[in-house]
Amino acid sequence: MSTTLIKEVKEAFKKKFSTDPLLIFSPGRINIIGEHTDYNGGFVFPAAVDKGIASAIQKSNTGNCTAIALNLDSVIEFELDKLKPSKEGSWENYVFGVVAEIQNRNKIIGNFNIIFKGNIPGGAGMSSSAALENSVVFGLNELFDLGLTKKEMILISQKAEHNYVGVKCGIMDQYASMFGIKNNALLLDCRTIEAKPYKIDFKEHQFLLINTNVKHSLSDSAYNDRRSACERVAELLGIETLREAIEEDLKKIIDKVTPENYQKALYVIQEIERTQKAAKAIEENDLQKLGALIYASHNGLQHQYKVSCDELDFLVNQAKKNKHVLGARMMGGGFGGCTINLIKKSEAKNFAQTASKAYKNKFNKDCSVYYVTLSDGTHLVK
Ligand code: GLA
Repeated sequence: MSTTLIKEVKEAFKKKFSTDPLLIFSPGRINIIGEHTDYNGGFVFPAAVDKGIASAIQKSNTGNCTAIALNLDSVIEFELDKLKPSKEGSWENYVFGVVAEIQNRNKIIGNFNIIFKGNIPGGAGMSSSAALENSVVFGLNELFDLGLTKKEMILISQKAEHNYVGVKCGIMDQYASMFGIKNNALLLDCRTIEAKPYKIDFKEHQFLLINTNVKHSLSDSAYNDRRSACERVAELLGIETLREAIEEDLKKIIDKVTPENYQKALYVIQEIERTQKAAKAIEENDLQKLGALIYASHNGLQHQYKVSCDELDFLVNQAKKNKHVLGARMMGGGFGGCTINLIKKSEAKNFAQTASKAYKNKFNKDCSVYYVTLSDGTHLVK
């Protein structure tokens, strides 16, 4: 958690609204493996990190609500009974969406003010959106005593993203951000929304993130297209989600789907399997195996699921050239954002430098390197 961020939002709030706010920290996440499997009912393996969003929230006694994004220096005022999605891509949709979904559940909230600031780089594939949604729902739950469980809260956050942001996301990001456990990753079964924590202590190895600092446009529609392609294949197979399928099932309908969609469904089935194998590798402390699975995941995302991009592939290739990197892959929805690298601790700095230099030479822009620690989920800060 960043105490600086908390202090900043607290002071900004007191200055603007002359009252003490509730303070909430809601983290972003990494994902070790299991990409694009969540909305297919499969397994994912995320962890909350020490980067996130700090929010200050309190009831308002004026006739409306104010939300302020400190990073952007952007202020909006709104009324609870007149909510509708704002223009595509605007940050307020995360706030409006959460409020609207709470109200859809017949929970009564009053006017409120919120000021937030984050240190998760946008578009990095580290779920700044889920962190924001969770902080809003968590804050409102506290403030108005709504009695929502954490599970209900993440479903509200997810629906906000579906209906107000327009991304038909799965549940991984919201779950990891809300339920994160310090020093642990969560093997989440997205069919039951139940997770098993795995202590992550690799002794000589660590995860390292490298952000391409690119976010290619159309990534939201490409995401939704992937999701509907998977749903169509599941329907053809007569099952609810691809989680229920094995490769053999897919072969039986090979004539009924395009080669592209066949590969996508195959990727999902294989990635669900890889994620379970990765958990086993961690149990057995077999990091070579874990690394190989991570590389295989990228290969599938690049060639079968087709959600990677040149910048991500370049960074993964840089990793492959370094024997101290056991595995690397793109992380999150794709089309930009970060790679996650499993690397020997003592070599992390060297690799980061070499890869950054090569990246600059190739693309004439900078990438960014993040060292993260695995942290607790959304919580009140006293
Ligand atoms: C985004 C979505 C998640 C998940 C990942 C891909 O982060 O929000 O639900 O589908 O992409 O694994």
